Amino acid sequence: MSIIHAERISKVYNPRSSKNAVTALSELSLDVREGEIFGLLGPNGAGKTTFIKVLLEIVFPSSGTGSMLGEKIGSARARGRVGYLPENHRYPDFLTGAQVLRYFARLSGVGDGTLKERVHDRLKLVGMEEWHRVKIRKYSKGMMQRIGLAQALINDPQLVILDEPTDGVDPLGRKQIRDLLMHLRDEGKTIFLNSHLLSEVEMICDRVAILNKGRLIRIGTVEELTTQENQYRIGIEGTLPEALRLEWEATRVNVVEEDGGLLVALDDVPALNTALDQLRNHGVLITGIAQNRQSLEDMFIDVISREEEA
Ligand SMILES: Nc1ncnc2c1ncn2[C@@H]1O[C@H](COP(=O)(O)OP(=O)(O)OP(=O)(O)O)[C@@H](O)[C@H]1O
Ligand SMILES: [Mg+2]
Repeated sequence: MSIIHAERISKVYNPRSSKNAVTALSELSLDVREGEIFGLLGPNGAGKTTFIKVLLEIVFPSSGTGSMLGEKIGSARARGRVGYLPENHRYPDFLTGAQVLRYFARLSGVGDGTLKERVHDRLKLVGMEEWHRVKIRKYSKGMMQRIGLAQALINDPQLVILDEPTDGVDPLGRKQIRDLLMHLRDEGKTIFLNSHLLSEVEMICDRVAILNKGRLIRIGTVEELTTQENQYRIGIEGTLPEALRLEWEATRVNVVEEDGGLLVALDDVPALNTALDQLRNHGVLITGIAQNRQSLEDMFIDVISREEEA
């Protein structure tokens, strides 16, 4: 089931101004499935935050439709079941962390009976129990982020929407947040996040989409997006025989020798099999074959630079 369904959503800011009109989203369609961690990636200004704002009806779309948790986007009923961590959030800095959480708990309708326990539990979840009596103005950037995350979870939401959740958090804290998000997924919650930390996204997201200048340019599982179809890693014992190296050079087979094997670019599966036959004919022992994968970061840089060129 789709927890978020977006259909050709466009957003133009200042549409009536010829000078200041900005197309932040352009016919964006995507689906987020129940129980997954979904990452929306893209360069600065790609439209990621705008998309979240459209889902929550903080801004209205210029065109397009969609649903969230089975209700039309923007419906108050759906928003009541969403937790939201905004980008660059600010809370009144004369309040303590616990006061902020109590305030948001009441706003989102947490009952008196559960309020105290809920606030305590969320503080613990984000590792802020020791700081709950300290005023927000004394918090570091990472502490602000943790309190923001606790705030996003205060209403026990079914869908958690996080705009740059680990921004400013130290490495240990980021690991804690990753573990927390995976734990929430295991509980059956759906998580939608924006992030620039691609190594992190790679570790936890089930599926990702890449946005550039308001347009969707890729969507799929991390594995789908990072597998390089025509590149194979062939594990071999020993080194590539000189005769075969020369033969491949003459027939323009692109090969890089690396520790324990070869990285070979081949047009298709028949070409792969020819290469394997050639290796065997030269008495080479093959220890393994796999399609090559690049990191999410390398893939991202590749597709964005190709877009820029085009
Ligand atoms: N309120 C606004 N009025 C006018 N233009 C806006 C407004 N908010 C955003 N924009 C523009 O819309 C585009 C998309 O912005 P958005 O904040 O959605 O990007 P983003 O992908 O979240 O970027 P970042 O990674 O920097 O957070 C940008 O060109 C931005 O300048
Ligand atoms: Mg943003």
